[in-house]
Amino acid sequence: MEPAIRLEDITKTFLQHEGRQQDEDPGIKVLKGISLDVDSGEFVSLQGTSGSGKSTLLHIIGLLDRPTAGKYRLLGQDAAGLDDDRQSDLRNNALGFVFQSFYLIPYATALENVALPGLYSGKPRAEINERARTLLEQVGLADRMNFKPSRLSGGQQQRVAMARAMLNDPDIILADEPTGQLDSTTSREIIKLFQTVHQTGTTIVLVTHDEDVAAQAGRIVRLNDGVIVEDVKTG
Ligand SMILES: Nc1ncnc2c1ncn2[C@@H]1O[C@H](COP(=O)(O)OP(=O)(O)OP(=O)(O)O)[C@@H](O)[C@H]1O
Ligand SMILES: [Mg+2]
Repeated sequence: MEPAIRLEDITKTFLQHEGRQQDEDPGIKVLKGISLDVDSGEFVSLQGTSGSGKSTLLHIIGLLDRPTAGKYRLLGQDAAGLDDDRQSDLRNNALGFVFQSFYLIPYATALENVALPGLYSGKPRAEINERARTLLEQVGLADRMNFKPSRLSGGQQQRVAMARAMLNDPDIILADEPTGQLDSTTSREIIKLFQTVHQTGTTIVLVTHDEDVAAQAGRIVRLNDGVIVEDVKTG
């Protein structure tokens, strides 16, 4: 079977000066030829020092940014060849995102936040809300559904973000330092949730600085200065 994610010699160059013409700005090469296959159902942790290119790579994998060069196949499709609309369809239907700052909508309740990605799916509202409720129960927030984010703890907010990421039953969950703002106990709870999601067959790519968190994944890929320097399977 084709891998869920197949990156071939991906590079990314950012201009040094925003707004300047490409031909007068050589740019900074942040990804210097990344080739990586992630099989369906794998749990991969992406590690590396600050500035090594982890978030840049995750954004490319998540179709939030395009590579400068290289080939990218996502779930059997040529991701680079898709126009913006097709990319956002794929992003909305097949991918779920969890970030360090939870990016919840402050004036919406937990339930409304979780239901949000369903609004573009064309499914009936009642069905979407039912799914959102089920997910909030699964992440242990049955009694917080009508709370707004400001009345939730950091760990609870991240659990809402996890439930939101799962709403459309994505093939792949992409997470960027999801435990970065949480204490170690709360981090462990969130990572347990990732494990649970992984056990249902979801592919996970998780960026983390935390060695303990990384050890929970089945595979660790380490970036340094825009190249992969290590790729190991763990116990
Ligand atoms: N939009 C941008 N324009 C210019 N340079 C950028 C842009 N985004 C990232 N970079 C540069 O790319 C490099 C890699 O950034 P990236 O955010 O991918 O690192 P990271 O590994 O996620 O680091 P951290 O662990 O601190 O989050 C950095 O040197 C950064 O300055
Ligand atoms: Mg980052």
